[in-house]
Amino acid sequence: MAETTNTPVAILGLGAMGQALAATLLKAGRTTSVWNRTPGKDADLVAAGALGAATVSDAISVGGPIITVLFDHASVHATLDPVADQLAGRQLINLTTTAPEEARELARWAAEHDIAYLDGGIMAVPPMIGQPGASILYSGSQTVFDTHRETLELLASAEYFGDDAGFASTYDFALLAAMYAMFGGFLHGAAMMRSVGVPAAEFAQRAAAWLTAMTQTLPLQGQAIDAADYTGVFIQPIAFHKAALDAINRASRDAGVTLDFVAPLKNLLDRQVADGHGPLAFERTFEELH
Ligand SMILES: NC(=O)c1ccc[n+]([C@@H]2O[C@H](COP(=O)([O-])OP(=O)(O)OC[C@H]3O[C@@H](n4cnc5c(N)ncnc54)[C@H](OP(=O)(O)O)[C@@H]3O)[C@@H](O)[C@H]2O)c1
Repeated sequence: MAETTNTPVAILGLGAMGQALAATLLKAGRTTSVWNRTPGKDADLVAAGALGAATVSDAISVGGPIITVLFDHASVHATLDPVADQLAGRQLINLTTTAPEEARELARWAAEHDIAYLDGGIMAVPPMIGQPGASILYSGSQTVFDTHRETLELLASAEYFGDDAGFASTYDFALLAAMYAMFGGFLHGAAMMRSVGVPAAEFAQRAAAWLTAMTQTLPLQGQAIDAADYTGVFIQPIAFHKAALDAINRASRDAGVTLDFVAPLKNLLDRQVADGHGPLAFERTFEELH
């Protein structure tokens, strides 16, 4: 049965993200009970109408779905194991960042306790919650997703990816891996520019425009990888990129910048050229990652 606008929600964990989620639900007029391990973090939320709970038991007694947004997998177990019996027949939405196998373990644990389990990967930072641009990826129980979709859409755009509880987490980490590599590259570039007196904030403007333009090539790169066809060199071949990475290495050394961020990619390109793949497209590097 679909929820109603009166369906209450329990939020367990009032760190930066839990506070943002709870505040957004309250703003939408939803009955929200909140709990945090360390007391006192619910003051603003209670002032905004939240039901402050001293214990996890009290928080979940409000009924409705239970959203965990805790530090890690271990903290989810530390919080829920003691109340597992009370959770029987309930619906759990875990938005704590957990590795795929940890999410699957939580789904098995939930099934053993007759709890319906939906896992979510939050693709947003707290100020984005409830705003356009925030998204949360879900997998696990379709019943939980369908029942509470309206609530989930209040928090961020909500997309469901099937019953493998570890899928959303895999997607989450894949996107984060791409993000961290980009952020690392930005830091490396900023360090190079400092050597010629350009502030990082100024470099950031140009880097943002350049990276935005370059990401337009990603769909074509994806197509080449899926077809495992690296003969259509639509940008430049591996040998070209190896020469560029060699030059970046020399320029970085001259600027007194370490090679921590660029060396791994250079090593991958060196290996492929040594193995005779130099004329193939850059995307062939994907084949070296398994
Ligand atoms: N912040 C972001 O930008 C962001 C973005 C995407 C996803 N997430 C994910 O959202 C989750 C929460 O993030 P956050 O930013 O809110 O983190 P946070 O500000 O560090 O808060 C962590 C929360 O976990 C609780 N906690 C830690 N260990 C616990 C334990 N053993 N038992 C019970 N509670 C415990 C903390 O309670 P105490 O107050 O008692 O320490 C606090 O409520 C994380 O999994 C994070 O990866 C965050």
